[in-house]
Amino acid sequence: MINLVAINSRVMKKFLLAFALVALTVSCATNKAPKILVLYYSQTSTTRTVAEEIGSRLGADIEAIVPAVPYDGDYQATISRGIQEREEGTVPEIRPLAADLDAYDYIFLGYPIWFGTYAPPIAGLLETVDLDGKKIVPFCTFGSGGLDASVRDLKAKLPNAEILPGYGVRAARIDAMPAEIDRFLKTGGFLEGEVPVVEEFSEVRPVTEEESALFDAAVGDYPMIHAKAEEVSSRPVPGGTEYIFTARDLPRDPAAEMPASTMKIHVLAEEGKAPVFTQVVR
Ligand SMILES: Cc1cc2nc3c(=O)[nH]c(=O)nc-3n(C[C@H](O)[C@H](O)[C@H](O)COP(=O)(O)O)c2cc1C
Repeated sequence: MINLVAINSRVMKKFLLAFALVALTVSCATNKAPKILVLYYSQTSTTRTVAEEIGSRLGADIEAIVPAVPYDGDYQATISRGIQEREEGTVPEIRPLAADLDAYDYIFLGYPIWFGTYAPPIAGLLETVDLDGKKIVPFCTFGSGGLDASVRDLKAKLPNAEILPGYGVRAARIDAMPAEIDRFLKTGGFLEGEVPVVEEFSEVRPVTEEESALFDAAVGDYPMIHAKAEEVSSRPVPGGTEYIFTARDLPRDPAAEMPASTMKIHVLAEEGKAPVFTQVVR
């Protein structure tokens, strides 16, 4: 005679085991650390330094974007090739990636700023990969220009990706990068730890003579900037003060009329250090 009670108890045990396995799988899936890929292009290794810092702080996978025909000429040759590509409306072909992008929850996407936006190898990459639905954290290095325009361009190019707040640093300030990356990763919730709360910038006001001198010292003899500070807003930051100056281009030829164009120049003045500009937003 078949023992129904025994069968029921065997079925029940199997059911409970299966349920426990499913529950374990779900809990592993929900508690697991996010998979992060640091994907970057760098011609002269400044951006690579930032990529490696992020990669090592997060224990993330890291991969360099490699153009099929590398930009291995000098600065002037690179500028010429870049101008030609822009005129022709072409983007460089990229070697296939080793990483399977589908395997990652976050992609940190790094690049130098060229011609005011992400360098052409990133444009080449965006032609070949599908980043719809991805969470992307942009980071960049630049001579003076800043991150913002490239983020606007990324958002326009990738309307179905989520572009998260990014990080940018002047190549000349690369020594400040590790501490800034630490704060950036903690602010974004990628690392645990406290981040000092920073106040909002003050109202904009006309510059004082002292602030004008501080601006001149920060800009120094940087060849791309020849400007006079007119207005400023500021805020205290740990160890000093951060300023946003509105500055007007000065004519290179003293006889010429005053140009109308203005720019915002961010300056950091830390106690015991010379003031430096951190980015220029035109
Ligand atoms: C072709 C070219 C164009 C550039 N255009 C800009 C620019 O528009 N704005 C800027 O701030 N820096 C510009 N730069 C400077 C680079 O962004 C900067 O040197 C960067 O840190 C280089 O990064 P890498 O060493 O990772 O290649 C340009 C550099 C090159 C080679």
